[in-house]
Amino acid sequence: MQPIILAIESSCDETSASVIQAGKVLNNVIASQTVHQKYGGVVPELASRAHQQQIHKVVNEALASAGIQLHQLNAIAFTRGPGLLGSLLVGVSFAKGMALGLGVPLIDVNHMEAHVLAHFIDDPKPAFPFLCLTVSGGHTQLVVVHDYLHMEVIGETRDDAIGEAFDKAAKMMGFPYPGGPLIDRYAQQGNPKAFTFPHTSIPGLDFSFSGIKTAFLYFLRDNKKKEPRFEALFLHDICASLQAHLVGMVMEKLKRAVEQTGINRVAIAGGVAANSYLRKSLQDQVSQSGWDVFIPKFEYCTDNAAMIAIAAHYKFVAKRFASLSVAPLANLAIGD
Ligand code: KG4
Ligand code: ZN
Repeated sequence: MQPIILAIESSCDETSASVIQAGKVLNNVIASQTVHQKYGGVVPELASRAHQQQIHKVVNEALASAGIQLHQLNAIAFTRGPGLLGSLLVGVSFAKGMALGLGVPLIDVNHMEAHVLAHFIDDPKPAFPFLCLTVSGGHTQLVVVHDYLHMEVIGETRDDAIGEAFDKAAKMMGFPYPGGPLIDRYAQQGNPKAFTFPHTSIPGLDFSFSGIKTAFLYFLRDNKKKEPRFEALFLHDICASLQAHLVGMVMEKLKRAVEQTGINRVAIAGGVAANSYLRKSLQDQVSQSGWDVFIPKFEYCTDNAAMIAIAAHYKFVAKRFASLSVAPLANLAIGD
């Protein structure tokens, strides 16, 4: 059977729907929430309300642009977690309602596994096993991907995620949320070696970003004491140096993971995989270390339903369906 599946993503602040047919993603409709910009971070209550307002329209748009009628759907997939509980509930409830109404199976998808599986939407697709560095606003993980449905976390952050470090540093400089992409943009014209920050990395394959966050706060404070216009005068260099430092921290762990596992097929995933310096640093490893690297398209880096759809396709093929009593889980881990 060549299944047609509707997939819904609502774990954080993007309401998204995608239709997949026979393993081929037909579309990826995304409604981004702008309501959070002025608050410097996602406000959970506002996020769930915005999902509630958008979801029907987004799903209808995905079905219409794919030319698929409701009765053609073979399953409904949704993000079970991790994510914000109120946001997840909107997607889970909508998916359950559709599955019940249409009499088709439900498929629950782990958001972090889906970020990794985004690599199977288009060619070239990595062969198994491969290493994936998943870097987003909520997570920083090193994953050994044994198979579509078998992944093993070998390192993760003990405190903040790298995306959070980008966003919080951006907030300190007065940028709107999410500030990560703005740091990337300003960094383009800056010198990555202009400023240095303390090495706050921890041993092993785990990550920690709380130290650099504090160090950056003091860096701004101390420099502003000497020159009140410090930020404005050196904006590009500050952004370029911070970005190089944060990317350096994850590249260091990635190199260690390659050494320890002996796997040199390496992928990146998640919102921060859109970062140009990270993409370039990974690409450099092809000539420097002989790695085989996989970098997703921009639209499949940040949260999207196409990645939920491809993950759901493999679960459908393996006949791994969810029951109607399935509940969202804010802290769902890989392998749960
Ligand atoms: O995967 P994602 O859309 O949502 C989560 O699951 O968290 O990731 C969002 C994160 C935000 O922290 C955002 O600032 C960051 O990805 N991000 C970037 C860039 N584009 C998105 N960070 C640095 N450079 C970028 N170009
Ligand atoms: Zn995500």
